[in-house]
Amino acid sequence: MIKIPEIPNLKKCKSIAVLTSGGDAPGMNAAIRSVVRYGLAQGLKVYGISRGYSGLLEGHIDLMDASSVANIIQRGGTVLKTDRCLEFYKKETRREAANILFRNDVDALVVIGGDGSFTGAHLMQTETGFPTIGVPGTIDNDIAGTDDTIGFDTAVNTALEAIDRIRDTASSHDRIFLVEVMGRSSGFIGLSVGIGGGAETTIVPENQESIGAICKTIERGTRRGKSSSIIVVSEGKKPGLSTRLAASLEERGYSTKVAILGHQQRGGSPSAHDRLLASVLGSSAVAYLLNGKSNGMVGVQQGSVVHVPFKKVIGVKKELDSSMLDLSRVLST
Ligand code: F6P
Repeated sequence: MIKIPEIPNLKKCKSIAVLTSGGDAPGMNAAIRSVVRYGLAQGLKVYGISRGYSGLLEGHIDLMDASSVANIIQRGGTVLKTDRCLEFYKKETRREAANILFRNDVDALVVIGGDGSFTGAHLMQTETGFPTIGVPGTIDNDIAGTDDTIGFDTAVNTALEAIDRIRDTASSHDRIFLVEVMGRSSGFIGLSVGIGGGAETTIVPENQESIGAICKTIERGTRRGKSSSIIVVSEGKKPGLSTRLAASLEERGYSTKVAILGHQQRGGSPSAHDRLLASVLGSSAVAYLLNGKSNGMVGVQQGSVVHVPFKKVIGVKKELDSSMLDLSRVLST
């Protein structure tokens, strides 16, 4: 269970708004529900903004009540919809957004999303003084300052289910399968899926194995009587890595297949873990706002909820645990 700190209620703010931004993640709905219901319980007016910062600029701001978030905790995606808003990179656009919120009687903004979404929130608050708080929602788990992000657990379980099925067919046909999982700039999904799925090799952006090393691992397995292998490949920044690796292995005489799991990892009903995490972080975000804490993110560190200033989150590389990388190597031999 996550430890929720006592956060004294100074109650300066009377109304809040919530939006989801960037790539969707399972559990975002549970977070929206938590923000809305906890906010209402504190006597706040709560507004929902559709389609992230784009919707905010278009004035899609609607009052929410307890029943607006009924029956959504188990649903994937985000009922508020989401967007990647390039306009928000402009200072004048962020000023306009703060004005829109002010004109709509909103005192503070809760942003559920990842690094890019937090950058927008941080800049808007720093430039205009409008209070914002972030709730980490991304399947990639690549946000510094929090051990866990909403959606990561579900995505890992979705990928694992697929890998278990792929292993059945890989071993029936004596094939090498390259299974590509999401993770543009970090290998958290890849590493967890690699260890949990018993992969023979795991390739993550932080620690790319050479094609020669991958072949050696496969050959070692073959000598031990292994006739099939699962290689988990994090997509990384350059698309098509798994296909390129497969081609190199084919050139060396191996029979390979590629399975790119793609956006199915972003969908589906959130796991119990993600629903709980989202419920705790959504309510904590509101509690921190009422305590006057903003320009930061709520996160979990060593089992406790914390408030981390955006400055310590945005653009900071969250490192993979090197002992987990070692473990994945040891267990795959
Ligand atoms: O949400 C993060 C992420 O899933 C990355 O792993 C992936 O590269 C990216 O989003 C793809 O998102 P989209 O297709 O929505 O641009």
